[in-house]
Amino acid sequence: MLTGKRILLIIGGGIAAYKCLDLIRRLRERGAAVTPVMTRAAEEFVTPLSVSALAGEEVHRDLFDLTKEAEMGHIQLSRVADLVVVAPATADLMGKMANGLASDLATTLLMATDTPVMIAPAMNVRMWDHPATQRNLAQLVADGVAVVGPNEGDMACGEYGPGRMAEPMEIVAALSDALSDGPLKGRKILVTSGPTHEPIDPVRYIANRSSGSQGTAIANALRALGADVIFVTGPAEAARPDGVKIVEVETARDMHDAVMDALPVDAGVFAAAVADWRVASASDSKIKKTKGGLPVLEFAENPDILAKVSQLAKGRPGLVVGFAAETDDVVENATSKRQRKGCDWIVANDVSPETGIMGGSENAVVLISEDGAESWPRMGKAEVAKALAERIASALGAG
Ligand code: CTP
Repeated sequence: MLTGKRILLIIGGGIAAYKCLDLIRRLRERGAAVTPVMTRAAEEFVTPLSVSALAGEEVHRDLFDLTKEAEMGHIQLSRVADLVVVAPATADLMGKMANGLASDLATTLLMATDTPVMIAPAMNVRMWDHPATQRNLAQLVADGVAVVGPNEGDMACGEYGPGRMAEPMEIVAALSDALSDGPLKGRKILVTSGPTHEPIDPVRYIANRSSGSQGTAIANALRALGADVIFVTGPAEAARPDGVKIVEVETARDMHDAVMDALPVDAGVFAAAVADWRVASASDSKIKKTKGGLPVLEFAENPDILAKVSQLAKGRPGLVVGFAAETDDVVENATSKRQRKGCDWIVANDVSPETGIMGGSENAVVLISEDGAESWPRMGKAEVAKALAERIASALGAG
């Protein structure tokens, strides 16, 4: 299953390091080659000799090893792998990774690599729950680092709770998943999602009912087919997708800037419910009730992100997919919206309150392309996302 794959295994200094010996064995049984790297602290828990005996390769330990620099520099070392796995990922290693520190060989490799990274955290339950660790975790997830575990259970330190490193076979399963060659492997796809918030003053804003759940489902479905997904989301209620790069924004203008920064991409899926207008007269201080007067809000038009990206994409390979949230004459309105915005496809849905679609778990969509309108049966948002991701893969010639 892992034949021909090379895993760069960074072993951190925690009691769970002993499980890495089994992990190496299991990886090699499945045909993977393992390049082991150990931190100084890891050597307190397992010996480099055991690690290299099981890996069948020498252990890399030193940032300033001149012979190795001559043979294979650390930058090179970080790039020959198909996946970098950090196990156990200690609180210290996670903190360094989240903050871009490169103080030893392991952390320098992590900074120098352009290979996908997966971490298997392991630490005392209080360290795991500590706000600093949770902050670092959120940052790492947003940077596109995949996370496996930790599991809940009895810990070596005598406490109980989350913090136990995932079992070797769970790590093998997660990394096999990450290494599977989906049809969208190597394709960069942008997904916008959620509502935008347009401030009226520092405490009030205008928003809409988008939950972001369809956008999250699409990002997950694209990633499951192997795509590198950049997920630009407004302040949405829905859980964020796993294993993708996440950019959080608030206003339509922020979303516009984040999308422009993400270009070029192979495809863009614009599922966000972007506010068409912002308050031109937004106040820097809280608007107070004044006797006899009601505040009057003036609006200005927000940039139309989808129309702009469609314009930029003209004549280039790739696919631009817009959404149309309509309450009347769905197909007719969405067909003219496709023309107006200049995108390749529009995924139209009826968001009239009686459909329960906006904020609900199901969706009934019509896919509008140059070939006309195709109605899909009502199904869960995850199924809509999967069907759409497969369509995108075949349109990109990858399906
Ligand atoms: N969209 C966008 N930027 C905007 C407004 C909308 O990128 N400023 C995108 C949405 O993400 C969606 C599509 O355009 O993919 C259609 O959004 P919708 O709000 O339905 O279209 P509008 O242009 O606002 O049309 P109308 O409100 O007149 O129906």
